[in-house]
Amino acid sequence: DALWCVIPAAGKGVRAGGDRPKQYQHVAGRPLLDHTLERLAMHPLVAGLMVVIAADDTHFAAVDHVNGKPLLTTVGGSERSHSVLAGIEALPASVAAAAFVLVHDAARPCVRADDITRLVTLAGQGEGGILGAPLRDTLKRADADGHSAGTEPRDGRWRAFTPQMFRREALARALRLAAGAGIVVSDEAMAIERAGGKPLLVEGAEDNIKVTTPADFALAEFLLGRTR
Ligand code: CTP
Ligand code: MG
Repeated sequence: DALWCVIPAAGKGVRAGGDRPKQYQHVAGRPLLDHTLERLAMHPLVAGLMVVIAADDTHFAAVDHVNGKPLLTTVGGSERSHSVLAGIEALPASVAAAAFVLVHDAARPCVRADDITRLVTLAGQGEGGILGAPLRDTLKRADADGHSAGTEPRDGRWRAFTPQMFRREALARALRLAAGAGIVVSDEAMAIERAGGKPLLVEGAEDNIKVTTPADFALAEFLLGRTR
């Protein structure tokens, strides 16, 4: 089955600041989003890209292919999970209901090709899964005044990255369920968990950062030159 990737890129990038959403701020001379799309389009297992954009976005007016792979766009929603669902619903009919779909944040340009390969290979043997990494730092519970009110166990705790990969119809159903219940899920795996699934955790490189704050742009530029 052809593997498509949905790329939520309809956020406002409030924490990153700047004069435009972070996905359009330049890193190493090009919009952040272009780096992300190129990494995905270069991957031999990725067949097409569905980029979810804001309603007033004109960045893709003249783009329909990246590295020979088809690129489609659709308009997202007010939460990331709404944008992802919009992207899944806008996939071409040729992407079967039972086919796996990747979801990858526009804001993660440094994803490595071999991590995508491992996720697709390992999670594709079951119901799907996500890239992530075990927590490294000691985890504190903060009280309202910014003091530590205790230490949480670190063992068995993971950070969740993207890409995340699930079957198209199962993910659409899980996201609709969450949306219908008024619950904002922060990643695809959370929607699948709420629907009773158990996403596989596939350990990936820590340098697959999500550009979030102003300092992250310089870090991404550095990492883009060191990762492939
Ligand atoms: N995203 C989206 N639709 C939304 C919100 C977020 O498509 N309504 C996308 C972002 O563009 C980003 C990814 O989801 O690629 C991860 O979200 P996040 O890092 O939180 O980006 P923003 O929401 O844009 O940033 P902020 O929360 O700082 O405003
Ligand atoms: Mg956000």
